[in-house]
Amino acid sequence: MSQDPEALLQAVRNERDLSVFDINSIEELTDDDVQLIFDVAKQAKENGNHKYTLLRGTTIFNAFFENSTRTRASFELAGKQLGSETINITSGGSSVKKGETLHDSAQTLSSLRANALVVRTEFAGIPDFLSRHVPSCILNAGDGMHEHPSQALLDVFTMLEHVKSLEKKKILVVGDISHSRVFGSLVRLLPRFGATVMVAAPQTFIRIGFREAFPDVEVYLNVEEALPKADIVMALRVQEERGGSSCLPTLREFSKVYGINERRFAMAKKGALLMHPGPVMRDIEVHNSLMTHADNKILNQVENGLAIRLAMLWLLIRRCDGKKKPYTPV
Ligand code: CP
Repeated sequence: MSQDPEALLQAVRNERDLSVFDINSIEELTDDDVQLIFDVAKQAKENGNHKYTLLRGTTIFNAFFENSTRTRASFELAGKQLGSETINITSGGSSVKKGETLHDSAQTLSSLRANALVVRTEFAGIPDFLSRHVPSCILNAGDGMHEHPSQALLDVFTMLEHVKSLEKKKILVVGDISHSRVFGSLVRLLPRFGATVMVAAPQTFIRIGFREAFPDVEVYLNVEEALPKADIVMALRVQEERGGSSCLPTLREFSKVYGINERRFAMAKKGALLMHPGPVMRDIEVHNSLMTHADNKILNQVENGLAIRLAMLWLLIRRCDGKKKPYTPV
């Protein structure tokens, strides 16, 4: 086989295509879609920093109407690595501040021949709405308290790099599951790999209807009861920007009762991984001393974000190439 990185990536794809024109939610992706994204990401990671021509002549707009470091930077790097013109739009610098709707802004970018719009917004459902009403491919980079599909994909990809299989593995998610869009995607993705999701959180983070909606998720109010069963511990930030801290007496108390410190992490199964989607509030959800622990995989997650987002962008834009995405103008 050719060692040309572009050819290697093409070979992995091997004429397989995503089933979707947009990625708004894990639920929209088939198991084959997820596997295709993982296969391409694995090869892209092996290919390193190769500058591809695969998306030359295309344009990607990263429309981030909420703050971001790792998601925005990795989507931008991935787009550039693929050879696409990649342009960043932020809320503060955009005409949304003058009263233009997100839909009209997206339509405007689409009219500039955007092949893909990567959208982050505080409003749940906006990417889904845009995907039905603008012609460009839409990629949800986090919408309100709903979903963050690329984060969950990179999280599971990272887990699978360290454990052979997630079958019968127990993933303990600790903290603000109520306001976390990462959790919204993870809880839909992990069971597909045979993993059991456990959550440990204060009662105020367990929404009414959660247990009924996700009957297979094991819920613990005491994190120390859950930790001995955990193969992987995923800590979540208290989402203060979405009202997370209003569910707690104080962040200090949350840290005392639920924060993962060395003593607590030692209670998890031998060799358990420590993960966090970032950004981490040190000494709140993860103790400072664990940030350099050998089993802390947080920076591996960030690194894999580049490969996963490269795969998502390439596959999605290839999927839409030359085909008319069904949409209804409004
Ligand atoms: N995990 C995550 O979405 O981080 P950013 O807000 O920095 O993109």
